[in-house]
This record gives sequence, C-alpha cells and structure tokens, in this order.
Amino acid sequence: MSASVTITHELVRRTVGRDNGLRRLLPTTYQYALFRSLAAVWPERNLRVLDVGCGAGRVAAGYIDLLNASITVGVDVANRFAPNRRIPCVQFDGVHLPFRSGAFDVVAMVNVLHHVPDRRRIALIAECVRVTGGGPIIVKDHVALRRSDYLRLAMLDVLGNLPAGGMVKAEYLTDGTMDQLFASVGYSPFSKVGAEFRTGLLCLLFPNRLEQTVLFAPHALTAHTIQWERWRA
Ligand SMILES: C[S@@+](CC[C@H](N)C(=O)[O-])C[C@H]1O[C@@H](n2cnc3c(N)ncnc32)[C@H](O)[C@@H]1O
Repeated sequence: MSASVTITHELVRRTVGRDNGLRRLLPTTYQYALFRSLAAVWPERNLRVLDVGCGAGRVAAGYIDLLNASITVGVDVANRFAPNRRIPCVQFDGVHLPFRSGAFDVVAMVNVLHHVPDRRRIALIAECVRVTGGGPIIVKDHVALRRSDYLRLAMLDVLGNLPAGGMVKAEYLTDGTMDQLFASVGYSPFSKVGAEFRTGLLCLLFPNRLEQTVLFAPHALTAHTIQWERWRA
C-alpha cells in the first residue's frame, strides 16, 4: 500500500461525499474495501491514470485523494458524468480510446469488464495497453466462481445499477476467463486481492468471493524484474 495515503473510513467518506452530500450519510463499507483493494495492488504514487468506464467519475476522483494519482481522466460509453465531478471525463465508442499512445501510466477499470460484450473485450484491452505504452492495467470486477454466482451477480447489478440508471446488461467473467482475456494481449495477473466488501446478511447473499481486484502486467515482468519507472518514461 505504499502508493496510497492511510485509507480510513472517514477519508473515504470525505472523498465520495465531496460532490454528493447524500453519500456522506451512507455507510462506506463497499467504497472502503474498494479503495483498500486498489491500494493493495496500486503500483506507485504520482501516476497518470485513465479510468475506463468511469460512470459518474466519482470513484476516479478518489485515485487522486487516496492513491496519490497525479492526473486522472475518465472515459465511458455513456455520458452519466456527474455535473460537479472533479476530473475531466470524455465519452467514447467503447473500443477506440481517444488518447495518444503512452498518454497514461496506468489504466483502471472498476466494475466495467462484465458490462463490455465478450466479443469487444480484447480490442478494448489492447487499446488500454496502447494508451499506457504497455503499462499496467488494474481491474476490479465481479467474478463467478460457482454456478449460483451468476444469479447473485445479476441481482447485484440490478440492485446496484438500476436505481441510478446504470448499465444492467452483463456477461460475467470467471477468475479463469479474466486471466485468459489478458493472456491474449500478453499480460498476466501480477497481484490479485479480495477484500471485505460486505458483512453480515449481505455477505451471506453476496459473498466477498464475487469481488476481485487484479493488477495485470506484461508476461515478461516478474516480481524480480518489474520496474514501474520504465512505464513512466
Ligand atoms: C457499474 S458501472 C461502474 C462505473 C464506475 N467505474 C464506478 O465504479 O462507479 C459500469 C460502467 O461501465 C460502462 N461501460 C460499459 N461498456 C463500456 C465500454 N465498452 N467501455 C467503457 N465503459 C463501458 C458503463 O457505461 C458504466 O458506466
């Protein structure tokens, strides 16, 4: 977690509530786990981050507050960007990222890939590789590990996204299909973590195994050879 400030519930509450007063009153269990899991795989401070599938742009703003990103830009197929968002956001066609090669150090995708149709995923990930100049890609997503998980995940998407007018249509990945997807662009999981996204009854219905945060990096880089600086040149 060297890349982050010390993440506390209070800091997360302030971050997610900064442009949305209502959020300050709600529990921060999920967002706290999200940022802690991102911090656990986040490579470094002062990164230029592209948040692909940024939604309203609120999670992406947290990369600056909590993960010490120097710049964060959001991009999404839908313009649901919060009017008072703190980061620049751009709409795009879902595949071609409107940025020059190497414009960013890292791409982050939070709860996005399962909404991207399977046939378009490799092209989108290849674009992420291009805009980072072969740099790391951080993915937080839902994964199905058991047959019953598909129904649980569909329920999560309906409960979590429908009220806010978000995307519900999804094709869920498994742990294995996620790794295969990145293998097709020459990347492997470098660091993979879970976290306590839910507790109590909610956790019984929607176990924490459904949530995974992974840092994908080029195959050639191992724990011994990895040098994040080379991606920032
Ligand atoms: C569940 S929301 C997550 C939003 C945000 N990342 C967050 O955590 O608050 C999924 C987002 O993925 C976006 N999305 C779907 N297909 C996409 C694609 N091909 N490229 C980029 N974003 C996409 C949707 O428009 C939606 O905003």
